[in-house]
Formats: sequence, C-alpha cells, structure tokens
Amino acid sequence: MRRPYVCGNWKLWGTRAEALEYCETLLGLLEGERAVDVGLCVPFTALDTVVGALEGQDVRVAAQNMYSEDSGAFTGEVSAPMLLELGVDSVVLGHSERREHFGETDAALRAKVPKALKAGLAPILCVGETEDERESGDTERKLRQQVGEALSDVPSERLSELTLAYEPIWAIGTGKTATPEQAQEAMAFVRALVGDRSRDAAEQVRVLYGGSVKPENAAEIMAQPDVDGALVGGASLDPEGFAQIVAAAGS
Ligand code: PGA
Repeated sequence: MRRPYVCGNWKLWGTRAEALEYCETLLGLLEGERAVDVGLCVPFTALDTVVGALEGQDVRVAAQNMYSEDSGAFTGEVSAPMLLELGVDSVVLGHSERREHFGETDAALRAKVPKALKAGLAPILCVGETEDERESGDTERKLRQQVGEALSDVPSERLSELTLAYEPIWAIGTGKTATPEQAQEAMAFVRALVGDRSRDAAEQVRVLYGGSVKPENAAEIMAQPDVDGALVGGASLDPEGFAQIVAAAGS
C-alpha cells in the first residue's frame, strides 16, 4: 500500500527566524511514530535553517523550484547540486503559480523532472486545470498534456519514485475545494496516465491533492482511494492546523 504523504507549501512565506520558530512548534505537535510521510516545501533562503531544525526528525524538506542545468549563465536560478548540498530531499516542480506568474512551461519541466530524479531529489510534479478548462470539459486533455510532457524523458523504471500533485487551479488559495468525487476522478485519471507507461509504477506512485486543504476537509478528501495525501498551502502556515492535517492522513 502507498504510504500517505502530507507536504506543506509555504510559498512566499518564512524568514529564517520565522522558519525556525515554525519548526520548533511543529515538532512539538507531531506525534513520534507516524504512519504518514511529512514534508515542508520552503523558500530557498530558509532551506538551510529548516534542514538543520528538522535533523533526525523524519520530515522531508523540499525546494519550490530548481533549474535543469547544474551551473552556467542562468542568473537567478538554483540547481540540484546546490539543493543537495544543503541536505534538501525533494523539489516541487511545475506549481501552477510558477506556470502562471513566472512562465514555467511543460517543455522546461520535461528537462527538470528527470534531472531532479537523476540528481537524487524526489520530484513533486504539480498539474491541474483552470476553471475555464474544467467548465469546457478540457480537464483530461490538460492533465494528459501536463503529465505526458513532464514525464516523457523519465525512464519507466523510475516513474514509481515520483509524487504527483493534482491541484485544480480554481481551488488554490480560493477556499473552494474540489469535492472528494471531483478529486478522486481527476486523480484516478492522473494515475492512469502513469499506468499508460507502467502499470507497476501507477500502483506505487503517490498522487496528492492540493487546493484549499484545511483541517476540516482533509480527512474526507484523503479517504478517496486514489488520494495519497495532500499538498497544503495556506493552511500549512499554521503549525497546529498542519499537524491536524497530518493526523487526518494517518487515521
Ligand atoms: P492552498 O495552496 O492550500 O493555499 O490552496 C495549495 C498549493 O498551492 O499547493
């Protein structure tokens, strides 16, 4: 069975001082033995602090983006070796905010996803449709395009190491959550897309739901068979609420 995974995405939040305080509070709230993988996806400048604060605590630390080259004339970018040197485990790629505000493309992700895997950083690939796409019946086409292109250069035998996050754009930061049925339907489809490449990988790959997950709705969404956990934005900024979502994933 797939182990649930709950990852907090701080987005643009967290000075080093705030990050340290958050980690201390969160560790006091998480129970010792967990049936759930827990991660925090934090700004580049807080990675070092968070890796240090969580040392030996079995909490993954993820960056929010990465470039596909190791070094070179790419001002403003951060590479896999730089993240690994800090002790970072994982990287979120293709978040809709990166796509929408910073021009992240499927073609760029086609290079980034296999690069992260090869370097030893577990990728969390985000996909999801806009409200217009959902209303015009284009959800599956969009997911097929995003998943297909981002995974096209990942060797089949490594597909199972990926985490996919289905994040309907209309549900991110809006307080509107996909219904458990909508989430299940889209996430079963995402899993089936992986299954087109490898049936074994489709069984093993974790698919997380993201979009206005809160302590009040987490258990219901995560009870769906194809929902293996959550990528939590706004609600993860409150360590108490985040710990409740982790507890909901393990129950
Ligand atoms: P949200 O964000 O929980 O604030 O909707 C989710 C995400 O963007 O990963």
